[in-house]
Amino acid sequence: MSQFDQVINRKKTDSVKWDYTKRIFGVEDVLPMWVADMDFQAPEEVIDALHTRVDHGIFGYTMPGSKMEDAVTNWLKSRHSWEIDPKTITYSPGIVTAISMAIHAFTTSEDKIVVQPPVYYPFFEIAQKHKREVLYNQLLLNENFRYEIDFIDLEEKLSDERTKLFILCNPHNPSGRVWSKEELTKIGNLCIKHNVLIISDDIHSDLLLFGNQYTPIASIQKDIANQTITCIAPSKTFNLAGLQASILLIPNDSLKRRYNEVQQLFGVMGINTLGADAMQAAYEQGSNWLDELIQYLQENVLLIEEYLMNHLPQVKIMRPESTYLVWIDVRSLNKSDKELQELLLNKGKLALHIGSKFGENGEGFLRMNIACPKETLLDGLNRLKIALT
Ligand SMILES: Cc1ncc(COP(=O)(O)O)c(C=O)c1O
Repeated sequence: MSQFDQVINRKKTDSVKWDYTKRIFGVEDVLPMWVADMDFQAPEEVIDALHTRVDHGIFGYTMPGSKMEDAVTNWLKSRHSWEIDPKTITYSPGIVTAISMAIHAFTTSEDKIVVQPPVYYPFFEIAQKHKREVLYNQLLLNENFRYEIDFIDLEEKLSDERTKLFILCNPHNPSGRVWSKEELTKIGNLCIKHNVLIISDDIHSDLLLFGNQYTPIASIQKDIANQTITCIAPSKTFNLAGLQASILLIPNDSLKRRYNEVQQLFGVMGINTLGADAMQAAYEQGSNWLDELIQYLQENVLLIEEYLMNHLPQVKIMRPESTYLVWIDVRSLNKSDKELQELLLNKGKLALHIGSKFGENGEGFLRMNIACPKETLLDGLNRLKIALT
């Protein structure tokens, strides 16, 4: 039995996923497989590091030092063969916070921001909240049922003289695509040509499935790195989202200075003490645990594929190349997203994210979080079947 088979009750822990379905979906007693955190305990080494800090009992201001820099740089080198200068590191509580502050730092209300839907919805929602105009470079489905980038449309949008920022999701949520070096080189060069800053949200980059390789866009060329802010975090990788500890890598000094000014403006400096300890322990000691997790997630993907083939053959998934979010194609059922949501919640008693939340071209898809024990996953799949048949 795997450590990930253990079913742990998360109800009544103020979990957004488990305790807030009434507030978010309007119903209770549904199995939550929506928001992107895992139903697994963090690595033992991380829990031990937290115990040590808690036992010390003093939780004053914390600023990570050289041990953290070593942990981060070694992690990126050993897992992704990416050598970074520790001077490029800036800390942030979360990635959404970081993206929001970067929008404030590097754009004005006259500017436009490009995103690639279907995509993690806060990208466009935050841009809109900042009153920036959002341009949608829709991803296209190819004949192999994978998303591809429409580069002609992308260049058109980047070449708009008011476009100042492009938000990349690599690997891509919700589809799990890990963009290839060729694709990223093309994106990077287009952004250089049209002088558009890149925010690359690489929060899912450690969760690589089925042998897929992640290329950080900032690792490709120096000129691309100089125009890129890369966001990474241990939060998805090790299930630490509630501890609020993330990292930005900004190799361009003047961009880093400007970003740090905005951090000061909002008083969002540093990270919380427990988050810092957890991050350091995870990057220093979490590698074996992550390998086991990846193995388990791959088994879960195969389990879904087999289940759907046997019980719901009209529905198929886009096999994820990374992360634990599965993009399920239910277009053959010819139901609106509203009807699908109604069936899922009230007939199947299952809470998923509906595709159109990620952009119009997500309509007819569902996003299921499979980072849970197989027993829970099977329960979710049975509920999906009840909802859709
Ligand atoms: C692509 C992406 N970016 C950012 C986040 C959230 O990051 P944070 O909790 O650090 O704001 C998520 C969470 O699902 C995500 O999928």
